[in-house]
Amino acid sequence: ELPDTGTIRCTSPSNIALVKYWGKRPVQLPENASISFTLDACKTTTSLSYKKKNKISEDFDFELFFEGNPKPDFKPKIQNFFKRIEAYVPFLKNYAFTIETSNTFPHSSGIASSASGMSALAFCIMQLEKKINPNIVEEEFLKKTSFLARLGSGSACRSLEGPITVWGEHKGIEGSNDTFAIKFPHSIHKNFIDYQDAILLIDKGEKQVSSTVGHDLMHGHPFAAKRFEQASENITRLKEILISGDLDSFIEVVESEALTLHAMMMTSLPYFILMKPNTLSVINKVWEYRKKTGSKLCFTLDAGANVHLLFPNSEKEKVLGFITNELVAYCQNGQYICDKIGLGAKLL
Ligand code: PMV
Repeated sequence: ELPDTGTIRCTSPSNIALVKYWGKRPVQLPENASISFTLDACKTTTSLSYKKKNKISEDFDFELFFEGNPKPDFKPKIQNFFKRIEAYVPFLKNYAFTIETSNTFPHSSGIASSASGMSALAFCIMQLEKKINPNIVEEEFLKKTSFLARLGSGSACRSLEGPITVWGEHKGIEGSNDTFAIKFPHSIHKNFIDYQDAILLIDKGEKQVSSTVGHDLMHGHPFAAKRFEQASENITRLKEILISGDLDSFIEVVESEALTLHAMMMTSLPYFILMKPNTLSVINKVWEYRKKTGSKLCFTLDAGANVHLLFPNSEKEKVLGFITNELVAYCQNGQYICDKIGLGAKLL
């Protein structure tokens, strides 16, 4: 029985990969497994209003508002998403939808909103599915939500649960799968509880190369095969690290993964560079700081110039002092966001 009308509201966070996903095959399947921290403060809130139609329409019927304003330029992306997921949620064309969405982080901050945005929308749609099919069990619900989110944006499938998720089949991670992400299936060491992520906004400019194009450039990339093998080895290492709490090894794997991601960009054809001079300055400052203080602070990067600073909760005061005294100078308008590891999507 299809419900007539109503509104569903939820939030879903962004995530930051520790072992990176870069390279995919159709449809949105990763060339290697990836693992990420789910974030907490950086999130999207989406409300999905639905109204059942008397006649099933030819095409998807939805209106889109971003932070209160109509957003026609987001429409093709959502249209495409609906087309991809329709086979799994066949009720979409029975409804007229209004989608209203907003982010906690500043727009065009260079923080990818596709992970939080697509996972939030997938979560809302699955809440409607739950009204139609109330017998769906929680585990199946989460799997299918992650499966749908993946079809919106690959990394979005890792945002639904926390604090750590794995996406992509890997022989060392039980239950891992290319089509949806799962929660890291081991208890994590106390060193990683409340792990912090301070995101330094280095450059808010539009990316010159989209991640879609970037993934594509891994086809025929001279180092692709070796890279996928290395990512797999790093998952094996990181699994042990997350269990044992070995922070020095954590730093080594995470920083190497960040630089390798950007190395793949620099060695593709066409080649491109998303780091900015201030990205490199911050990296050098982090290395200096670690050498001087014995801190376990490390960095990672997304597909952009911003730097994510990862550190244990126990170092929070000191690292925030280091940021305000030295690193804000490298941030655009002095902007940075304090975030930490979080638990995933929530119904409001
Ligand atoms: O989800 P996409 O297609 O935007 O790809 C994101 C890829 C990286 O953010 C660079 C790495 C990752 O695993 O999140």
